[in-house]
Amino acid sequence: MWKMLIVVMCVALLGCLQAQELQEHVSIILLGATGDLAKKYLWQGLFQLYLDEVGRGHSFSFHGAALTAPKQGQELMAKALESLSCPKDMAPSHCAEEKDQFLQLSRYRQLKTAEDYQALNKDIEAQLQHAGLREAGRIFYFSVPPFAYADIARNINSSCRPGPGAWLRVVLEKPFGHDHFSAQQLATELGSFFQEEEMYRVDHYLGKQAVAQILPFRDQNRKALDSLWNRHHVERVEIIMKETVDAEGRTSFYEEYGVIRDVLQNHLTEVLTLVAMELPLNVSSAEAVLRHKLQVFQALRGLQRGSAVVGQYQSYSEQVRRELQKPDSFHSLTPTFAAVLVHIDNLRWEGVPFILMSGKALDERVGYARILFKNQACCVQSEKHWAAAQSQCLPRQLIFHIGHGDLGSPAVLVSRNLFRPSLPSSWKEMEGPPGLRLFGSPLSDYYAYSPVQERDAHSVLLSHIFHGRKDSFITTENLLASWGFWTPLLESLAHKAPRLYPGGAENGRLLDFEFSSGRLFFSQQQPEQLVPGPGPAPMPSDFQVLRAKYRESPLVSAWSEELISKLANDIEATAVRAVRRFGQFHLALSGGSSPVALFQQLATAHYGFPWAHTHLWLVDERCVPLSDPESNFQGLQAHLLQHVRVPYYNIHPMPVHLQQRLCAEEDQGAQIYAREISALVANSSFDLVLLGMGADGHTASLFPQSPTGLDGEQLVVLTTSPSQPHRRMSLSLPLINRAKKVAVLVMGRMKREITALVSRVGYEPKKWPISGVLPHSGQLVWYMDYDAFLA
Ligand code: BG6
Repeated sequence: MWKMLIVVMCVALLGCLQAQELQEHVSIILLGATGDLAKKYLWQGLFQLYLDEVGRGHSFSFHGAALTAPKQGQELMAKALESLSCPKDMAPSHCAEEKDQFLQLSRYRQLKTAEDYQALNKDIEAQLQHAGLREAGRIFYFSVPPFAYADIARNINSSCRPGPGAWLRVVLEKPFGHDHFSAQQLATELGSFFQEEEMYRVDHYLGKQAVAQILPFRDQNRKALDSLWNRHHVERVEIIMKETVDAEGRTSFYEEYGVIRDVLQNHLTEVLTLVAMELPLNVSSAEAVLRHKLQVFQALRGLQRGSAVVGQYQSYSEQVRRELQKPDSFHSLTPTFAAVLVHIDNLRWEGVPFILMSGKALDERVGYARILFKNQACCVQSEKHWAAAQSQCLPRQLIFHIGHGDLGSPAVLVSRNLFRPSLPSSWKEMEGPPGLRLFGSPLSDYYAYSPVQERDAHSVLLSHIFHGRKDSFITTENLLASWGFWTPLLESLAHKAPRLYPGGAENGRLLDFEFSSGRLFFSQQQPEQLVPGPGPAPMPSDFQVLRAKYRESPLVSAWSEELISKLANDIEATAVRAVRRFGQFHLALSGGSSPVALFQQLATAHYGFPWAHTHLWLVDERCVPLSDPESNFQGLQAHLLQHVRVPYYNIHPMPVHLQQRLCAEEDQGAQIYAREISALVANSSFDLVLLGMGADGHTASLFPQSPTGLDGEQLVVLTTSPSQPHRRMSLSLPLINRAKKVAVLVMGRMKREITALVSRVGYEPKKWPISGVLPHSGQLVWYMDYDAFLA
């Protein structure tokens, strides 16, 4: 008995000692303490953090800061703090006490000059010394516009870093740049003041309870989901954020960003990565989660203009004119609505459409990630007898309901015919209003769970910052990967006129969209009264494909999308004819960026293409290993080969890498390729050769003044390019000219000058190798987009 008592006392004493030892102080500095975000969410989040943590061995001080002078700032901050609320289950007297203590710990200070920051540091140190506290760390929350970041960061770095052993965490709010380039610039600037582990970039969607539950849910239900979470079972994934509000009052921000930058690039992309990532063994390992997220970015298929539809609510331009004092003639092209079709090219998700959609002034406010499963069951029993839990013929879906909508709260819904999910005790089974239907089924058809206690996203994230949980934040790599994915689409949409919509319920079906063959389009034609769109530029579809002559040969010209689709159709028709006549089709393809869209088009929209009978050859190659991203073969592989079924023995990469050397003359790679062509291609006459034209008049890897390849007997040659990598392997002009058909694809403004020049010159391959392309008995066709041709 005595022994037991002693043990109990020792444990209690140890507990006390530990608690004392752990009594550590945290200073939280909220920059922008009187601003909107602070008023709406951050002070409340800090109060919640205080309530959660103060009893657990930490002491706090809260410094509200802004540029405003002390007296006025104090008053504004006091206003912001007036509306703090306590959890529902806290007694009012206790609540008043806690609030009082919190207010005592919260002080306003002006932070404007370098001296202000030095004074802040001194005050924190003095306070620690005076109270005999050990410093745990400092959190600086930047609730300020990004243009202010650099100054603040410099001041913190030079005078407000805590002493050794204590941590510094700086919290940043979006926007983190406007495109890949500006994001990179901002990241570099911040990186010169802070370590990566010190930065917490907020995406408040990662603090939404249903979003924060995606990985734990996948983890806790591994057994059921393991076999279902893949392309064989998932029909599609929808990641949606609809809003009823519009951008009024925020147009100065919104006009610069638009819905894709404001919502899709960050919130919806983050949700996408959580749904799609390979599940780490340990979902609490921030390092593993972040690594797996990056892998998703690497597998995202590049977006094309046709991957998206965009819209704009009708009164938007008027709001911009009013708020930004623009002239009456001003029409904005900024999208306030966008839907994008995303594909993930990996084994798990290949072929599964991920739809990302968001918009302002829509008919309801709701957010969710919906995973719709395929239904391959046929039920013989009459529909009358189908029971939700058993019938495999009812819809099968899993929904992370982020909030709002008819349900009105965050939730996780799992169709009863899928599996009974397991959720942590902080989630409870929920009941909705009777008769409620969601996603085509009555609520009773789902296992439905909601959080026991609803928490605001910022308060969740503040707790994660406090606990150093980096997996809920955006790392620099993550940020740049996301911008890297979105920037090309944003550029390609820059001049696209969005479809106008009236807003709210009146939108009707105007914004409904469909997708097929890798493209997404509005289901309905643009109604008459909304035409013309706000943009001055004519739409591609306003133009017909133009047929004419260029250098005495047929010319096909159109806007790039039409041009690519015409070329793809022509190649398919040639392939089908060749296979019908000769049993095979020999196609030689160029590398570079122009044919990428063509490869994607062939890969996604040409089901009749006789790939099984097609031989693929390279027109030219860079002297780099075939796995190098610079390699033409690598581009072909990424954009075409991995999506179609060409027998591997029909694929003929150029042998630039032999004996562990690149393009060494002694290895005779060019001769080997020539022999392979002679052996397999009748008369060494390709059915179709696809060429490009460089701004200097080069074609294939035959450059002006090239000593080889412009004439003579050799079929394949080594050449030198003026740009890196310099060494190249190329088909020679004599070989190209033996082809039955040669197509030259020329796209983009950069080609205007050379296009105009080459139209005037004669046969001068030494100066302009492209002028030497004249098939002996085959046909030459030029495919030029309007950007290149309408000079
Ligand atoms: C913000 C966007 O990030 O998210 C706003 O800038 C948008 O345009 C908001 O309204 C939506 O957040 P929530 O939490 O209301 O869904």
